[in-house]
Amino acid sequence: MQPEQERELIAVATEARTRAYVPYSHYAVGAAILTADGQIHGGCNIENASYGLTSCAERNAIFALVGAAADPNARRIQAVAVVTAGDDPATPCGACRQVIREFGKDAAIIIANTDGKVFLRTTLEALLPHSFGPEQLGSPNDNAGG
Ligand code: THU
Repeated sequence: MQPEQERELIAVATEARTRAYVPYSHYAVGAAILTADGQIHGGCNIENASYGLTSCAERNAIFALVGAAADPNARRIQAVAVVTAGDDPATPCGACRQVIREFGKDAAIIIANTDGKVFLRTTLEALLPHSFGPEQLGSPNDNAGG
């Protein structure tokens, strides 16, 4: 990924983070997804008084973009940026890794903070090795749905 594109992805995640609804943990997370067709979508975590219904920034961003995608390239994930505050950054939780996997087997993952500092550049494959995905169910890996 080009440095300029990475900066933009982090900027979108940082902006999305400002909309996090986190009255319980006070731990705001922003995510941004770069799709194969070059679009960037942001998301933030949204908590709930029924704690288990909390939804992470990464999944919120992905579900919003997939619901709006008109064609397979618009839902194929090329890269994900995750932004938190401070110097102990968050990597995607296990559930989010699996959801990224569904649409981004080869996705790049960038872990950064609100100052734009990048702590880790990795891949979904490294975070979720030997993963289960659409192919196991005989689905063509174009993630086109249907
Ligand atoms: N959270 C995310 O949104 N993404 C992550 O990668 C880690 C955890 C949220 C869920 C919850 O609202 C808060 O962070 C504390 O777990």
